[in-house]
Amino acid sequence: MARSHFPLGIASGSAFLGREEESLQLANHIDHGRHTLLLSPRRYGKSSLVKHVIKKSGLPAYEIDLFLVSDEIAIERKLLKGVKALIQQVSDTPDQWLKDLMNYFKKSHKKWFIGIKGVGLEIEPDANSDTADTILEALNALELILKKKQQKAVLFLDEIQEIANVKNSKAIEGAIRHFAQEAKFLTLVFSGSNQHMLKHMFNDRNRPLYALCERINLDRLPQSIYKKYLDKIAKKMWDETIKEPVFEKIMEITECHPRTVYVLCGRVWDQQAFTGKQPSVKSVQDAWQKYIQAKYKDIRNELKSLSAGQLKALTLVASHKFTEISGKSAQQSLNLSSSAIVQALAVLEERGYLEKLDSGKYRVIDPIITWILNDYNTEALN
Ligand SMILES: Nc1ncnc2c1ncn2[C@@H]1O[C@H](COP(=O)(O)OP(=O)(O)OP(=O)(O)O)[C@@H](O)[C@H]1O
Ligand SMILES: [Mg+2]
Repeated sequence: MARSHFPLGIASGSAFLGREEESLQLANHIDHGRHTLLLSPRRYGKSSLVKHVIKKSGLPAYEIDLFLVSDEIAIERKLLKGVKALIQQVSDTPDQWLKDLMNYFKKSHKKWFIGIKGVGLEIEPDANSDTADTILEALNALELILKKKQQKAVLFLDEIQEIANVKNSKAIEGAIRHFAQEAKFLTLVFSGSNQHMLKHMFNDRNRPLYALCERINLDRLPQSIYKKYLDKIAKKMWDETIKEPVFEKIMEITECHPRTVYVLCGRVWDQQAFTGKQPSVKSVQDAWQKYIQAKYKDIRNELKSLSAGQLKALTLVASHKFTEISGKSAQQSLNLSSSAIVQALAVLEERGYLEKLDSGKYRVIDPIITWILNDYNTEALN
């Protein structure tokens, strides 16, 4: 029961909260064929937002998750699958565009196999053909069909940073750029969970994807949105709105980190299911402690990969004591030079532990790390 209110995968339906402005923005970009890069730290709701907007748009769309693709062939396979799926989505029958596709691929300097297999369309490049070239030709074939049908469509490339890890990545990125610059009917939406890598791919003048996209940055959701939602669920379950101190405790612990809010609420609500009463502050704290205990070993092992300086700097940010993190007082407290602190912060940001806010302050991204660093003696981590 609690799980449907507080999903830990994609947030959809009534569990998809807020994001009105970002949804409008993305819908508008898609409408005008402006390719978009969606950026945020991990677990803020990028994938959920794109799926939400695509669903609302009613446009043919396909999602390619590039997480853990091992090589360029795997990327090619996934992209070809997306191209075939989209052509089929806009076709009444699998062979509707067969002739057009055959004519199109005839012009290619390499061999393609085009046909119908079972109920599906087959588009297969010759073995040993160049991956970047194959990707470009396949995307152009899709664009051609969309143009014939005068139909817009969306291709969502999630975890796009994985492309940068394969051999020939620049050529593949080049093919995507080449296509994207000309496309009028297919809009690309890019997202990923490694912000550092994404910025490298999209911000660096020397990379093919430089200055190709509009940007949308996702922040955490505001408390007011959670208040409305938790009140609604509490009313349904216990016929009363959520008590203010209970709500405040949930917000204090989770710091509005989207996934963590749902993790904690799911656990609290499950716990209450047996009592038939709404939670107390203590039951929220108990649920959180149980969660920390379950995760403690994993997090401790993860933190062990940090250097002593990085761990000290992370602990300091987690303690919320310093605003001027590389200033004098921080240097004394950490016994590190200003440049060593700056370097440690850069690594922590790069590895997704910290985010720099507009105010210039740093924030620990995952609240459980904040809690573990504040509650436990970090010496024990070394
Ligand atoms: N609009 C939303 N309203 C409420 N909760 C949300 C929303 N979007 C995401 N969440 C919560 O955050 C979690 C992470 O969402 P999602 O997987 O979409 O984020 P992501 O940024 O794509 O994550 P990753 O960095 O792991 O790819 C969801 O499981 C859900 O608990
Ligand atoms: Mg995601």
